[in-house]
Amino acid sequence: MSGFSTRAIRAATQAPRVDQRPNSVPIYQSVTFSSADADELGEVLTDKRSGYAYARIGNPTDESLAAAIAELHGAEAGFVFASGMAAIHASLLSLVRAGDRIVCTQAVYGSTRSLLVNVLGGLGVRTTFVDPTDIEAIEAALEAEPTRVLYVETISNPTIVVSDLAVLAGLAHRHGALLVVDNTFASAYLCRPIELGADLVVESATKYIGGHSDVLAGVTVGSRERIARVRAIQTDTGASLAPLAAFLVLRGLTTLAIRMQRHAATAASLAGWLEGRPGVARVFHPSLASHPQAETARRQLRLGGGMFAFELTGGREAGRAFIDALTIPERTASLGSIHTIVVHPPSTTHRQLSDGDLAAAGIAPGLLRCSVGLEDLDDLVADFGHALDAAGAVTPPLGGERVAAPPTPAPAGTTAAVRG
Ligand SMILES: Cc1ncc(COP(=O)(O)O)c(C=O)c1O
Repeated sequence: MSGFSTRAIRAATQAPRVDQRPNSVPIYQSVTFSSADADELGEVLTDKRSGYAYARIGNPTDESLAAAIAELHGAEAGFVFASGMAAIHASLLSLVRAGDRIVCTQAVYGSTRSLLVNVLGGLGVRTTFVDPTDIEAIEAALEAEPTRVLYVETISNPTIVVSDLAVLAGLAHRHGALLVVDNTFASAYLCRPIELGADLVVESATKYIGGHSDVLAGVTVGSRERIARVRAIQTDTGASLAPLAAFLVLRGLTTLAIRMQRHAATAASLAGWLEGRPGVARVFHPSLASHPQAETARRQLRLGGGMFAFELTGGREAGRAFIDALTIPERTASLGSIHTIVVHPPSTTHRQLSDGDLAAAGIAPGLLRCSVGLEDLDDLVADFGHALDAAGAVTPPLGGERVAAPPTPAPAGTTAAVRG
């Protein structure tokens, strides 16, 4: 008869046999998975046989999520990570080595810029930043020197530039480069970049896919061969997604379409309502006819999405007053949530920058970025109206400073952009 501890360990770790299929994916909260014998374990660990041995290498809940997102993107394969940045990191490391060059659009998420400049830059990978709206400039950059990766965001953070992915994929491939697309602002519901020619698509699943501001996750999709390389990087760098987090993201995925429809409808109405109001210089939402890439957006996006940006004529002070007067939106970072989240980069994430530095980063002093949640439109309109009044009260009588139009190219090497 074994001792109490031996019996307790054995008794408490017998996974039940389940003959009926559960209707949600179980949370496989186990780091280790046993094989029948040493040969099987060896084969599983060396990928000669499918199966699980150690959760950093593979976990069934994570793999269900990766397969589901890949399927929705029309991609052969996918892999999930502990965060969107982990997905971007592993994806880029799977493609570049010291001496390689990346061409990246100016308007990208701040940590992505920092990863490119500070992390990969420190390892001998150079990045050239280009204006995402200037196809000729992108082509010139690709022609100037051999380039391994062209990196773009489908809808950019924070300035809502819509990149023409089919054109960029053609350009990249003609110049021997691969196209990597961050599709976070769009999600697979609005845009499927693989079908437009992208080689790898990354997303922060923390945002629209998870959808509730309660889980961090990231994903990369692409061909089987490319994802195998991404997975190999992850195995050795370790940013694995916890199975409970994968479960939460899977649950989010089931309602992505209806949430995106509501986010997009409310954002289009709110952005349309704001456009032309006193104190509002410009509004950027892909659904608006005034959007600089309205035609690309119509072609490429199913709907305009839940993100928009707008500039207040009153500059930095008006932006701060607007944010402080809001009562419904959360004053926080992040996006793609049930909650409306409004950020004013010049008084929060970028408060250390002068107006000149902000303009160089494509961020007007009065620029606000709004991630529209699932609250009722009328309530948001009333709240924004009252915040506009508050912003107007601090706006200089002659209209204050005229704000710069995004995207103004930022000097390569700056890390300015919205975080979150
Ligand atoms: C466009 C974009 N990509 C990537 C990320 C990084 O995602 P995560 O916070 O899940 O690492 C963010 C975060 O805000 C983002 O906005």
